[in-house]
Amino acid sequence: MFNSKIIGLGKYLPENIVTNADLEKIMETSDAWIQERTGIKERRHIVKGDGNSTSVMGVKAAKIAIERAGLTPNDIDFILFATLSPDYYFPGSGVLVQESLAIPDCPAMDIRMQCSGFVYALATADQFIKTGMYKNVLVIGSEYHSGGLDMTTRGRNISVIFGDGAGAAVLTRTENSNEGILCSHLHSEGKYAEELSLIGPNTGRWVPEILSANNPDDISYYPYMNGQFVFKNAVVRFSEVIHKGLVTAGWKKEDIGMLIPHQANLRIAQFVQKKFGLSDDQVYNNIERYGNTTAASIPIALTEAWEEGKVVQGTKVVLAAFGSGFTWGSVMIQW
Ligand code: ACO
Repeated sequence: MFNSKIIGLGKYLPENIVTNADLEKIMETSDAWIQERTGIKERRHIVKGDGNSTSVMGVKAAKIAIERAGLTPNDIDFILFATLSPDYYFPGSGVLVQESLAIPDCPAMDIRMQCSGFVYALATADQFIKTGMYKNVLVIGSEYHSGGLDMTTRGRNISVIFGDGAGAAVLTRTENSNEGILCSHLHSEGKYAEELSLIGPNTGRWVPEILSANNPDDISYYPYMNGQFVFKNAVVRFSEVIHKGLVTAGWKKEDIGMLIPHQANLRIAQFVQKKFGLSDDQVYNNIERYGNTTAASIPIALTEAWEEGKVVQGTKVVLAAFGSGFTWGSVMIQW
């Protein structure tokens, strides 16, 4: 049995910055409301026609991660692509990455676990590496939210939160059982599937029905979120799954070098920080600049923490996420 460790990280954010003041011009909202409830100051949105898509952003982040790993695309044995906003309904975006990187025959699998997508993808990569089936695995989290949000007052409770972007990590095998991913914990609770969801289009309502209805008031094509219910569940599940990880890894909370929570809402991250009694230096947040980028939020934040020298050899890193499904999970990494 091998362990897996991250040897390369990369990120890509679209250049177009959308501030809270920009949103004030198109819907009834305010910088004060958004900052007070979420901590977000600005987010990035793709500009239609700028050449970006979910897979294109993923490729940009992946190229940086592969280069930093000291590898070439042909060294990648397996691609895992986490997203809730794939380029197409099908096929998944992973195969588009494989084609763009020109890696012949490389298996590519999409992971549809929303905000927990990157944590699920890392745990999956870890299992394939542990068993020896693959050596180098590329894991991408990428989201193109802005094209599918209701940017009117009707959709303001969701549309002010989400942003576009991508992050990527390259994992490889190590024979040192004391480094890399030490454990991961994954959970889901499908009874709350519709509390945070986008239910149309779906297989109960295929295209002819959608087209014939032609109803601009049909909000099932926009994401729905029962915000307060999600918030209440998030703080409980984050805490539980981080605690589980600490117990399995044999770490104490004061051992945590860097906690990188999924960037859902700064208030959730602050609640978790307080609950574990962590200092500001032990928690990484960048939601104020990018909003919630769902499956991309952890790899973007991890890349930035690494670039800033806050994650170095020996750092005990905790990744944790909660989101639509409900799904949640944690990964403990000895860097
Ligand atoms: N600007 C101004 N006012 C707004 C906005 C806005 N953008 N959005 C909602 N409001 C109003 C509401 O209409 C409501 O007004 P009312 O009192 O007159 O009815 C008021 O603000 C309060 O609305 P709430 O929804 O109760 O606000 P809340 O304090 O719950 O904050 C938020 C909303 C930020 C969405 C919060 O509930 C939250 O962060 N929830 C968790 C989000 C999360 O973690 N998601 C998981 C990840 S996402 C994923 O997995 C895809």
